[in-house]
Amino acid sequence: MKIRTAIALGAVIAATATTFAAEPGADTYKAKCQMCHGASGLADSPAGKAMKVKPITDPSVKKLTEAEMITATTNGEGKMKPFKDKLTEGQVKDAVAYFRTFLK
Ligand code: HEC
Repeated sequence: MKIRTAIALGAVIAATATTFAAEPGADTYKAKCQMCHGASGLADSPAGKAMKVKPITDPSVKKLTEAEMITATTNGEGKMKPFKDKLTEGQVKDAVAYFRTFLK
């Protein structure tokens, strides 16, 4: 019995550790942003090209602060609809943080 409990606990801890190891915003980004902004922020997806989304490497996007990007995502920008009713503040923040990892 005790050994089983220990194994079960071990599995829970391992699963939790895996969740934390992943980029926190990666899932949100892949589900909600990638189709337009591309797998690595370059807007090279069909929808990204069709909507003429700027790649994150574009000087006008690159210069934005994290706060400005959060505002753009929350309230919408150009053809991008606001995400404030679709995602929590935390999800927007994490998705933007993940988006910004493509700048490095
Ligand atoms: C339906 C397509 C679409 C989706 C989905 C989408 N965007 Fe956008 N996004 C755009 C367009 C179009 C713009 C307008 C500016 C441009 O041309 O880049 C934009 C602009 C932005 C900007 C302002 C900087 C810039 O590129 O001009 C940020 C930051 C941004 N999006 C982040 C996100 C994040 C984070 C998500 C997911 C939560 C997301 N977007 C989802 C199409 C999209």
